[in-house]
Amino acid sequence: MELKITCIPGDGIGPEIVSEAKKVLDAVAKKYGHTMNYTDILMGGASIDAYGVPLTDEAIQTARDADAVLMGSIGGNTTTSPWYKLPPNLRPEAGLLALRKALNLFANLRPAVLYEELAEACPLKEEISSAGFDMLIMRELTGGLYFGERKTIEENGVMKAIDTLTYDENEIRRIAIKGFDIAMKRRKKVTSVDKANVLDSSRLWRKVVEEVAKDYPEVTLEHMLVDNCAMQLVKDPAQFDVILTENMFGDILSDEASMVTGSIGMLASASLNDTKFGLYEPSHGSAPDIAGKDIANPIATVLSAAMMLRYSFDLDREADAIEAAVKKVLQDGYRTVDIMSEGCTQVGCRQMGDLLAERIGL
Ligand code: IPM
Ligand code: MG
Repeated sequence: MELKITCIPGDGIGPEIVSEAKKVLDAVAKKYGHTMNYTDILMGGASIDAYGVPLTDEAIQTARDADAVLMGSIGGNTTTSPWYKLPPNLRPEAGLLALRKALNLFANLRPAVLYEELAEACPLKEEISSAGFDMLIMRELTGGLYFGERKTIEENGVMKAIDTLTYDENEIRRIAIKGFDIAMKRRKKVTSVDKANVLDSSRLWRKVVEEVAKDYPEVTLEHMLVDNCAMQLVKDPAQFDVILTENMFGDILSDEASMVTGSIGMLASASLNDTKFGLYEPSHGSAPDIAGKDIANPIATVLSAAMMLRYSFDLDREADAIEAAVKKVLQDGYRTVDIMSEGCTQVGCRQMGDLLAERIGL
């Protein structure tokens, strides 16, 4: 099969980790007889430096023409980088938001899994972490506060900033359906997270989610207020299977969930639209402080490439092979510095890529 993939190396550690993911994909292609057809585009700071804007129309078109997009990370140090002196709509993050919107990537899947081999890195007390956890945050990605009308005005000599949080029932329904569909393939539990005790948008969210739930009698639905959810994630993460939530809450809760795994360098993500097309990226950021040092952990990007094979190309066997290679590398005791522990062998980004590629098909 020929796979047409647009790559966005991006900023910071992005180019290093995407290179290693390509290395692993090439090993998969070789073993299973596929052809990887990559085209790189610039986004974020790299695009600002080259073109003065965080994403060009040509780059959007190249992404649209592919079957899937594999991304590293974008953005720099928000206090020191000159990119953050630019107006907000020209900063690196605006490129990512524009791409999500242009490609209608409304469903963001962020798995947070406690890896048995890395359980020591989990910051939770052992009595909590020993239960293990494996949850998936399904975050709405193209609505809510991120895309509502916003402005900063001066009123009677007082500065005032306004952001609007809007959801219509169709936006809620389509993400809820994705959430329930994926729950059917997992442990059949959906926790819908909102702030229905305060927000109208949350009350509509709850109503629509309940309507969708009627079509999934096998799935247990529970509602949880977002502040309580933030607490439950550290108190009892094992209770969660699919967390279904709106854009802003999902942004915050997914960082929290990834942190409680203790290994954010391991977590992948997928952003999907209504077709097989998707954008795949690690859950972590661009880590500009360690860029170019060959110490970044490429595993989250490699696992994102596995999600890409699974969701956009239906290549389950190949995705399984990548996930097995990751498990094997960990069992063999290799660690990048972020997940290093006593008795293991510390390796750099490139060597981790080599070790993973070697293990494809073992
Ligand atoms: C994320 C990031 C982005 C977001 C930023 C970079 C705009 O934090 O993907 O979670 O807030 O969605
Ligand atoms: Mg975020």
